[in-house]
Amino acid sequence: MNSGWIKTCYIKISSETRRGRRARGADRTEERSKVFGLERCMRIAVVGSGYVGLVAGACFADMGHDVILVDNDPAKLAALKSGQVPIHEKFLPELLQRHRGQKLQFSDDLHASAKASSVIFVAVGTPPTDRGDADLSYVESVAREISGAIDGYKIVVEKSTVPVYTSEWVRKIILRNGAPADSYDVASNPEFLREGTAVTDFLFPDRIVVGADSERCAAVLREVYAPLSEGTYYKRPDSIPGPDRAQVPPPLIITSTKSAELIKHASNAFLAMKISFINAVASICESVGANVQQVVKGIGTDSRIGPRFLNPGVGYGGSCFPKDLMAFRSVARDCGYDFRLLDEVIRINEEQRQRFLRKVRKALWTLRGKRLGVLGLAFKGGTDDIRESPAVLLIQSLVQEGCSVAVYDPAAMDRAREVLPASVEFMTNSCEAATGADALLILTEWEEFATLDLSQIARRLHYPIVIDGRNLYDPETMAAHGLSYYSVGRAPALPEGSPASTGEHLPDDHKTYE
Ligand code: UDX
Ligand code: UDX
Repeated sequence: MNSGWIKTCYIKISSETRRGRRARGADRTEERSKVFGLERCMRIAVVGSGYVGLVAGACFADMGHDVILVDNDPAKLAALKSGQVPIHEKFLPELLQRHRGQKLQFSDDLHASAKASSVIFVAVGTPPTDRGDADLSYVESVAREISGAIDGYKIVVEKSTVPVYTSEWVRKIILRNGAPADSYDVASNPEFLREGTAVTDFLFPDRIVVGADSERCAAVLREVYAPLSEGTYYKRPDSIPGPDRAQVPPPLIITSTKSAELIKHASNAFLAMKISFINAVASICESVGANVQQVVKGIGTDSRIGPRFLNPGVGYGGSCFPKDLMAFRSVARDCGYDFRLLDEVIRINEEQRQRFLRKVRKALWTLRGKRLGVLGLAFKGGTDDIRESPAVLLIQSLVQEGCSVAVYDPAAMDRAREVLPASVEFMTNSCEAATGADALLILTEWEEFATLDLSQIARRLHYPIVIDGRNLYDPETMAAHGLSYYSVGRAPALPEGSPASTGEHLPDDHKTYE
């Protein structure tokens, strides 16, 4: 595909569309491209082929850029080169198949890859230290290595989630290691993709945030994202299909690097706060006998609040929210602001798991010797990732309390086997996990767990008890299938004639129900 083709196609579309303004914007971009001698097919290196790096690299290739994916994990690199896909993400296998060996190369040679590229995205891990702040040592080592490869204007872009000021440190490290000051810029381009929908989140983002402290740097990143921000990507017959609600083209927001770094931490903190808020409201619902799903509908239809990220449950997990909240809190602390709101978000999240454990105890009285069927290991539906998974943490607690546990998850079994106690039994489907169990727990919001054959589940369970930490079912429906159903922020639903429904259940020490 030659650049000439892109140019012709582009002009034809803009004169026809009502987005005259965008055409004018694009002309300006054209101008700038000429001024800075930029081509539309950029040479990009992405360092770190984890969730963010691998998805970003594959999508940049599909947007028409030449991409080198760099990683220092030889096993991961060998797997990628041999056609394997190390993470469970929709559309990723197709993209890797489509571009491997063409627009997408894999390398462990950071120096050569950086030398061959004009834009270098840094997507290495930024795990939490014991203090809770982000460990930036991988970012620093990558910056050090890049400095020696700067033989002409290049841009180093933070793609990993990093605290504010990181770009200044990256700039300093590169300078200290010998790169001429005017031969590079450091930018921040936070990634908002969610695991499970990573490819479509990348290609159909709500916004693209570029933190750049020079017009030259901003112009280059405008070029990188031009296929999305100018809408040309979505017109291609082979483009990845977007989610129904996708707004294309996405706005490209240019800010300072510091603002962009803060946008990422603040966005994740706000989303986690929304989840903890609705979990706190769910606890109040349990105390007063209200229905949290009705409350969600009532508050979520307020356009200032919005319905998304108001699903009550066993709390948030994953590789981002827990660590980013801690990192943001320590950033605030370091700049003298006591961000106690974040402490509360974290406390409510941890409390939510304890509340769920109490719910299991209440439904079964004692736990020692009980057999539990558990659906879900991943930290959320649609991914094989168990990092900070509430499901895994709950299973570990239940085993500690003397339960035997039979689990099933559509994708995360292998990863969970590495961390769960040897006594845990791994079943091949939901029904097997339920067979002979004193109760069935739903801990991860996989779609398939919301369409179980309830009659069969009821038949297979020793006690027809379902404790749902993700509110996947309508309580009445469950009771109608003869199941005693306990969920989050809603009254228990007990089938006609079940012991509990006749008030024979044991006295509880909580006001209404939990
Ligand atoms: C990354 C960041 O860690 C996280 O802060 C951000 O929120 C999202 O992007 P993720 O992609 O999930 O998260 O990271 P991870 O799965 O740990 O992948 C990092 C990759 O970088 C690994 O493949 C690792 O081998 C590689 N790496 C790490 C390098 O290539 N070089 C290094 O020096 C360190
Ligand atoms: C998150 C952010 O959404 C994403 O923008 C950022 O780039 C990385 O971190 P991710 O961790 O992949 O993405 O998953 P997300 O869909 O945000 O879910 C995070 C956790 O919150 C999961 O455990 C999920 O089960 C939980 N959750 C989410 C709720 O409990 N309720 C909700 O309403 C939404």
